[in-house]
Amino acid sequence: MSIVFDEQKRLFKLDTSDTSYVIGVYDEDYLLGLYYGAKIPDMHFDSFIKRAVAFSPANPVFGHNGFSPDTSPMEYSGPGAGDFRIAAIAVRNADGNNVTDLRYRAHRIYKGKQPIPGLPTTYAVSDDEAETLEIDVLDPVTGAMATLVYTVFCDQPVMTRSVRVTNTSDKTMYIERVFSLSLGLPTMDYDLLTFYGRHVKERTLERRPLAHGLQGVQSMRGVTSHEQNSATVLMRSGATEDFGEVYGFNLVYSGNFASLAECDTNGATRYLLGINPESFEWTLEPGDTFYAPEAVSVFTDKGLGEMSRIFHRFYNNNLIRGKYKTAKRPLLINSWEAAYFDFDSEKLIDFAKAAKDLGIELLVMDDGWFGKRNDDHSSLGDWYVNEDKLVGGLGRLVKSVNDAGVKFGIWYEPEMISPDSDLFRAHPDWHVHVPSRVPMQSRWQYVLDVSREDVRDNIWQQMYKVLSENNIEYLKWDFNRSITDAGSALLPPERQKEFHHRFILGTYDLMNRLVTTFPNILFEGCSGGGGRFDPAILAFSPQIWTSDNTDPIERLTIQFGTSICYPASTMGAHVSACSRTGYETKGNVAMWGTFGYELDPRKLTEEEKTIVRRQVADYHKYYDLIRSGELYRIVSPFENPYYAAWEIVSADKSEMLFTFVCAHGIDGSQRMIRFKGLDPDREYTCEQDGETYSGAFLMHAGLNLTGKANSDGESYTLYFK
Ligand code: DGJ
Repeated sequence: MSIVFDEQKRLFKLDTSDTSYVIGVYDEDYLLGLYYGAKIPDMHFDSFIKRAVAFSPANPVFGHNGFSPDTSPMEYSGPGAGDFRIAAIAVRNADGNNVTDLRYRAHRIYKGKQPIPGLPTTYAVSDDEAETLEIDVLDPVTGAMATLVYTVFCDQPVMTRSVRVTNTSDKTMYIERVFSLSLGLPTMDYDLLTFYGRHVKERTLERRPLAHGLQGVQSMRGVTSHEQNSATVLMRSGATEDFGEVYGFNLVYSGNFASLAECDTNGATRYLLGINPESFEWTLEPGDTFYAPEAVSVFTDKGLGEMSRIFHRFYNNNLIRGKYKTAKRPLLINSWEAAYFDFDSEKLIDFAKAAKDLGIELLVMDDGWFGKRNDDHSSLGDWYVNEDKLVGGLGRLVKSVNDAGVKFGIWYEPEMISPDSDLFRAHPDWHVHVPSRVPMQSRWQYVLDVSREDVRDNIWQQMYKVLSENNIEYLKWDFNRSITDAGSALLPPERQKEFHHRFILGTYDLMNRLVTTFPNILFEGCSGGGGRFDPAILAFSPQIWTSDNTDPIERLTIQFGTSICYPASTMGAHVSACSRTGYETKGNVAMWGTFGYELDPRKLTEEEKTIVRRQVADYHKYYDLIRSGELYRIVSPFENPYYAAWEIVSADKSEMLFTFVCAHGIDGSQRMIRFKGLDPDREYTCEQDGETYSGAFLMHAGLNLTGKANSDGESYTLYFK
């Protein structure tokens, strides 16, 4: 049993393969978060409870016995009831105050894991893989009831959490905040790792020690954002890539999030992850339930690298779904960097023929095929083919591409509308806007109000027609601006702050229609590159375009940063015509992700074609290794400005691909590389030099790789078997 309830001590213990999480029910039914960390067999938490200090308020029934919400490790705490730290939940009641004081009422333990209505989640492959605890905590004064849902995975050190809030009273109430995960840690000797960025510079790793007070990151852009990712890590001070205690968290959500840590004056930490309360409120009528998104949490005492591998395995096994969870993904070429908006049928057919000659399997027709779209000023929302460009229609183009032996893929940006579009002229109130204000434009476009069902139905019907009438085997779903003027024409004034969450629910509804109606289409997420790289999008699409930056040197930090919490199988990575390095290095870097091309195949020289053909062969040779292997980061570009190196080791440790990239040449530097993750007792032969080494030698002594790839942009791979 992974979850036990000790009725005498009133303690819950939730075990995964390597972790324990302990929740206590104290007197007066206060719910306390007592422990999360390495697996422990027993529970002696009495000393954790009574810690009140001067000025700590206490429930009068306790007298001066030393218990106060002020200083206790409250599991899921609201404002105004003695806990002054940042609140996980706040419900404003019919009296107009938001005092929220939740006490234990009931619990249930069951096998498996339930979905959350309307929201993407991770899943248990079988009911035996996971066990779930639901705890009802009720505010008896207002009737606000939260159900805290914890699922533990028996064979992985992973726990998921979510919260639903039900109005059990006969009066309307208003949820002001509802975080999905609230975690108390008894100390503050942790570093916070977050991932900042911008367009073409996503997921830059930033590490800072926790300090007293509030700290954290958020998105207010209506999407996960380029600027901050919802993935967050707490590393014990001194922990490294290979050693030490690390907690990793992420939210299965694509809207405004907040990831916040508060260290109190007693040196304890509270960490919260969930919907950003800044832009949120939800009206809850009697009997109604609100569902907050799922949060994932991971713990290991074996360093950041092991935390990454836990996330990678978990997302590959328990998040990604559908045909392409296991089916081999076609090797694709995308038209964007090759042609931008300047293409017609003949050019694309030529691309397909040239691509086929190189061994490429799928052609993606990117932005510019619909309405009157010849640049980014128009036509979003008019999802019918531009027959001036695609003479003979989409049917003829797809058939010609297929006849050339290449599959066909298409681009959409379903949640957007151009002011210059037939859709906008027909429905001038369908864009996201608020009364009396001129809505902001970004990339000359508005956001379409997909919180509305009528709007979603229109877009869906347009997409369905194109996708059902043509042999389309891949779809790239883009999202190219942040949301401003957040409001919906259909919502009453008191519900306008529900807009952002309703928008995301609308997006998920559309995505769900797509993946259930067209299960054979390979779906790739995108948002101006990697602006919506999150686990929720991965629940629909097995891969996401990582960045519009295809320069392999710039990609080093982008892919290293992304790899901290997301597996290689999800990272869209293409070889483009950018000029910073040669094709060898472009291929070596892109090989780390879902490999593809983003160039005009007709323009390659014979020499470049030879390299591309070799890369295509490597793609097939290493496909299984990269998709299901284990990542070991060897030299991080965040720590070493000169070079970067990483390895992918097969799950059975029988093979390993090592990649080295020189970002800035420095003659004479010694590059002593110690490999990781191998079997010490096995022998590995290096394909490149024919030498055989023990795993122990490669890991403990290592190799001196000085002298290879010494100039800017040079790289190489070594394959050991
Ligand atoms: C942004 C994407 O990241 C690009 O790959 C491309 O699809 C453009 N949008 C098209 O507008």
